[in-house]
Amino acid sequence: MLKNTIKELSTTILNNQSDFDTIKNTIDEIHTHYLETTNIGDLGNSMQNLAAVPTASGMALSLNHAAACLLDYRRTAKFLQAMVSLIREKQQQHPNETINIFYAGCGPYAPFITLVAPLFKASEVQFAILEINAASLQMAEKLIDKLQLTDYVTEYHTADAVTFQIPDAKKYHILFSETLDALLYRESYVPILWNMLPQLNENCAVIPNNVIVQASMTFPQKEGEDVRKEKEAAVILNVREAVKINNGSKTLPNAFDPITINLAGDEKYSTMIVDTKVHIHNDIWLYRNESSLSIPLEMEIVYPLDAPNVTFFYQLKPSVELKLKN
Ligand SMILES: C[S@@+](CC[C@H](N)C(=O)[O-])C[C@H]1O[C@@H](n2cnc3c(N)ncnc32)[C@H](O)[C@@H]1O
Repeated sequence: MLKNTIKELSTTILNNQSDFDTIKNTIDEIHTHYLETTNIGDLGNSMQNLAAVPTASGMALSLNHAAACLLDYRRTAKFLQAMVSLIREKQQQHPNETINIFYAGCGPYAPFITLVAPLFKASEVQFAILEINAASLQMAEKLIDKLQLTDYVTEYHTADAVTFQIPDAKKYHILFSETLDALLYRESYVPILWNMLPQLNENCAVIPNNVIVQASMTFPQKEGEDVRKEKEAAVILNVREAVKINNGSKTLPNAFDPITINLAGDEKYSTMIVDTKVHIHNDIWLYRNESSLSIPLEMEIVYPLDAPNVTFFYQLKPSVELKLKN
């Protein structure tokens, strides 16, 4: 039975978190099963499957690109580990209760159901799924059906998570929404949390728990130094802090407050690096360059400085984007 095969492959990933080759081979094997089961490859590269879908504030990935996220190996392995351990924690906190999970943005493979549910009984975990891309949701439904996981899913919604009102929102123990890009560009994690967190129970846990966009300065590498020196310059955006101001009654602002970094001083810098630090859960983080989500942006600092100050701000309307002005 395919469900059992996936259960074994998921377990292999969980048991080999620090062995990249095993993670890669196992996820490739899962991918082969999912390709065969969904026939996604037969859809080809039609516009429908390649075009991003606009949301109320940002863009959602096409079916093909959302499917490809599975192959972001370290990302998938770490999110899987986080999801399974969070479910177990919630089971400890709520013995004999079914753990309810709201999955916003599942993509065509809904990996954080299809890899997770086989590890539990349907009486232990129940999922509600929401996806803005109708073709992706249809594919996810088909895969869930073929894997015989329909007992684990209570609701399917084709809707925009930026504006969606969650039915019976207080019952959820976990919100899962991997709707991120590096620098929080395009995809709508921030407006999704802005909309959904005030609706949910205050103890509802979120995966990823937070994203911090941070600027660091590097110094020219001196002779004899193995690595160049680097220092943190400023937190440009701490998502969970920023969305806290919404108690449910506020509309999404046009942008969050700007942050200015002063580059003048005695020391000369080589570059400025902007990192996307993804805090998945507890001590599980995505570090620089481990995933497409944590690729840094590096900018050279040219002297003499045109202007001593660099100002960043995170725009939310008309669509999300980290902006820089100097
Ligand atoms: C980065 S993909 C991740 C897919 C899958 N969950 C995974 O982790 O491999 C994000 C998914 O969220 C969906 N999405 C993005 N923004 C959304 C929104 N505002 N409302 C609903 N779905 C959204 C996209 O269409 C895409 O399928």
